Amino acid sequence: MKCFDRAYLIWALSYAACGMGLGIFMAASGNHGQFVTHAHILLVGFVTSLIYAVIHKLWLPAAPRVTGTAQFVLHQAGCIGMFAGLLMLYGRVAAGARLEPLLGSSAVAVILGMLLMLVMVIRAGAATRAQDPPGKMSSMAG
Ligand code: HEM
Ligand code: HEM
Repeated sequence: MKCFDRAYLIWALSYAACGMGLGIFMAASGNHGQFVTHAHILLVGFVTSLIYAVIHKLWLPAAPRVTGTAQFVLHQAGCIGMFAGLLMLYGRVAAGARLEPLLGSSAVAVILGMLLMLVMVIRAGAATRAQDPPGKMSSMAG
């Protein structure tokens, strides 16, 4: 699948719009109670998704479809669960103990997404080296 970079870019910019919107709401209302939510929507949502878009564009031009989709779904499900949980936590909609399963599983999904991205990058590097061994370069140069 060739469009993981674009999908990540669109999600990243959408998180930017939501996170900045929350920032403007906090600034305008003078109530900064959701700053942890704001920080994570922007850093885990916007910045991390944008970095994943760049990784796909530069290092994973032919990402494996199944692993790539699993990585994408893990990251986005983790993000949505984490941000919903944080909004409820800092909005005092639900107690921390009730939100623990949601926040805990979302954090695990985000980390698993990061590990799966690492695996894809390492595998792509190994595949490139197998196709283009170092000796090939020197024989071409010579
Ligand atoms: C429209 C743009 C933005 C507005 C209006 C805004 C507003 C705010 C406000 C009001 C706070 C709470 C400050 C406090 O009480 O300590 C805050 C905190 C924060 N913002 Fe933003 N923000 C914006 C964009 C961003 C962006 C683009 C990022 C990162 C990519 C970012 C990252 C953070 C972080 C990490 C904190 C927490 C800082 C801390 O730990 O005290 N913000 N922002
Ligand atoms: C599995 C993912 C993550 C979990 C479980 C997590 C958890 C936390 C927790 C518990 C805090 C303390 C909040 C408080 O002050 O009460 C925090 C703060 C912070 N985290 Fe994360 N975090 C995650 C990912 C990230 C990532 C990827 C970034 C940046 C790229 C980040 C940036 C920050 C920053 C700047 C703060 C301090 C500002 C704040 O209090 O909101 N976090 N995080």
